[in-house]
This record gives sequence, structure tokens and C-alpha cells, in this order.
Amino acid sequence: MLRAQTFEGAVMTGFTVAIDGPAAAGKGTISKAVARHYGFGHLDTGLLYRAVGARTLDGTDPFDAAQALSADDLAADNLRTPEVAQAASRVAVIAEVRAALIDFQRAFARRSGGAVLDGRDIGTVICPAANVKIFVTASAEVRAERRFLELSDKGMDVSRDQVLADVKERDARDMERAEAPLKPAEDAVLLDTSDVSIDVAVAQAIAIIDQIYGA
Ligand code: DC
Repeated sequence: MLRAQTFEGAVMTGFTVAIDGPAAAGKGTISKAVARHYGFGHLDTGLLYRAVGARTLDGTDPFDAAQALSADDLAADNLRTPEVAQAASRVAVIAEVRAALIDFQRAFARRSGGAVLDGRDIGTVICPAANVKIFVTASAEVRAERRFLELSDKGMDVSRDQVLADVKERDARDMERAEAPLKPAEDAVLLDTSDVSIDVAVAQAIAIIDQIYGA
């Protein structure tokens, strides 16, 4: 089981950055770079849902998987496959699964050294009081092309059309679900990465955070 206590005792002065957005918008890369820049911890919350989704592929009940999630589950080597991405999006509509993962995420967000969490509902549900909220987006076509190149680079046999269809299917499920749907928080800053390189997008995210961090 993932223990929220890992971070207990953390001083409540941690600075929290919430980065949300749809699949393959660049939020993972931006979050990692931002965390490195400020020396903050980084939690890819999609990995939690992917790990639960992966367990359901071998027949495990999603709620049982979420409750018993372990560090080993998060280290499984199949978590980046399209099949697991779809399974993650399917288990993510289940309210009990989401509830089982909340404490761990919130405890991470409070860690004293500062934290960047990326996902779909960080600014809206997990950390509504985050110091900075960024909603990273890009057109479905641009996101699908990036994901296609990433999967092809890893030697996965995928077609552009299939990746675009997968991205659109996941967007629809993530945005239309009743529980913590994907949407920008009212006070989130929008960052559209459709027409900019990842380096520029990272610089833009840092500029947004700099206005608040240390100000
Ligand atoms: O960010 P990702 O592509 O690894 O996320 C996989 C799925 O997990 C995504 O389709 C929806 C779900 N997810 C979620 O519902 N809430 C989060 N905070 C993160 C991911």
C-alpha cells in the first residue's frame, strides 16, 4: 500500500504547483523540468491510475488494486502502453478508485521541499489551494503526433490514426466523467503548447511560477 505517512511530518509550508491537462499535451515533460528547476518533488499522478489500470488487465478489481497499490506496481514496465493508458482512463471514472488515491496525492503536495503534481484534477480537486495552477493544452492532432513519435521511438507498433483515435477517446472519457472531470480550474493559467517547442513551453511555465514563487 502506498503510504501517505511517507510525507507526514512535512512542514505545511511547501509550495505546490498543480499542472493539469489532456493526454500528451506536454504536462509530464513540463512538470519534470519545473520540478528540476526549483528543486521540488514531482508526482505524475497519471502513473497511479495507470498502475491501477494495469492491475485490472489481469482481472484484479479496480478498487482492490487502488487500495493495495504498492511502489512495485508503480515500477511495472508496461505502464506506458496504449492498452494501459485506456485501462487507466476507464478505472479513473470510478469514484471509489479516485477516493482511494487522494490521501497519497495530498500528502505529496504538502511535502516541505515543494511539489509539482501533474494530472487531470490537481487544481480542481486534489489541491484546490495550490500556489500555482497551470492547465497545459494542445490540439488533439498535435498531441497525437507527439504520442505517436514517443511510442514509435520506444519500438511500439502503432499507427497515427490509431493513436489519434485513442487520444480522442481518452479526452472524451476524461472530460465527460461525473467524478473530477478534466477541466481547467477557474484560477488556472492556460498554456497552449500546440505551436511552441517543449523548451519554450517549459520557459513559459517557469515564467508563470516565477511571478508567484519567491514574490
Ligand atoms: O496522464 P496520463 O496519460 O498518464 O493519465 C492516464 C489516465 O489516468 C488518464 O486518461 C486519466 C487518468 N487520470 C486521472 O483521471 N486523474 C489524474 N489526476 C491523472 C490521470
